[in-house]
Amino acid sequence: MRNVTLTQIFEHPYAQKYMKRAGIVHAVSTAYHAFHIAKKNGADADSAAKAALLHDIGHYTWYNNGTWDYDLYKENDIHAIKGAERAHKLLVRLGEEPKKAKEIALAILLHTDSYLPDHSIVRTPLQEAVAKADEMDEEPGGMHHYRKTNDEKVLRMLEKLDRMIENEMSDQTIKHSVS
Ligand SMILES: [Fe+2]
Repeated sequence: MRNVTLTQIFEHPYAQKYMKRAGIVHAVSTAYHAFHIAKKNGADADSAAKAALLHDIGHYTWYNNGTWDYDLYKENDIHAIKGAERAHKLLVRLGEEPKKAKEIALAILLHTDSYLPDHSIVRTPLQEAVAKADEMDEEPGGMHHYRKTNDEKVLRMLEKLDRMIENEMSDQTIKHSVS
């Protein structure tokens, strides 16, 4: 049983405020990718999907004269740091297990190494799932942050992914109980 679902995360006003800045289509696609990668690499599929859904919640709108400035963003951005903190706060508020909230926050913190002086992160399978999923959905110039959708569609996609995660978790429980 999960304490928190993806749907609950999306519906929370804090998530509504910050997630949409970075583009909700990108967040949902990344969550789906992370779920599939986690199933293969043995990471926790629920944590991977949650971290991926929230990975850009620290996104800041780097605009120059009203237009998105990719160079400015690349130079000054710390969205992984901000995102880890925001996601942790939101998950704890929603009642996530503290251990899981920490693990998710760390996967968000390490989903990119663009802000680190030397690019040498050694990632756990969970952190790898989130970082790879993000890369799979990226578009040149940061355009993946600007795809359009509506809340109704997003909710349906997240409800579907919630069911997939729950099925995966009960499959794992059965596997463990017979082994
Ligand atoms: Fe991203």
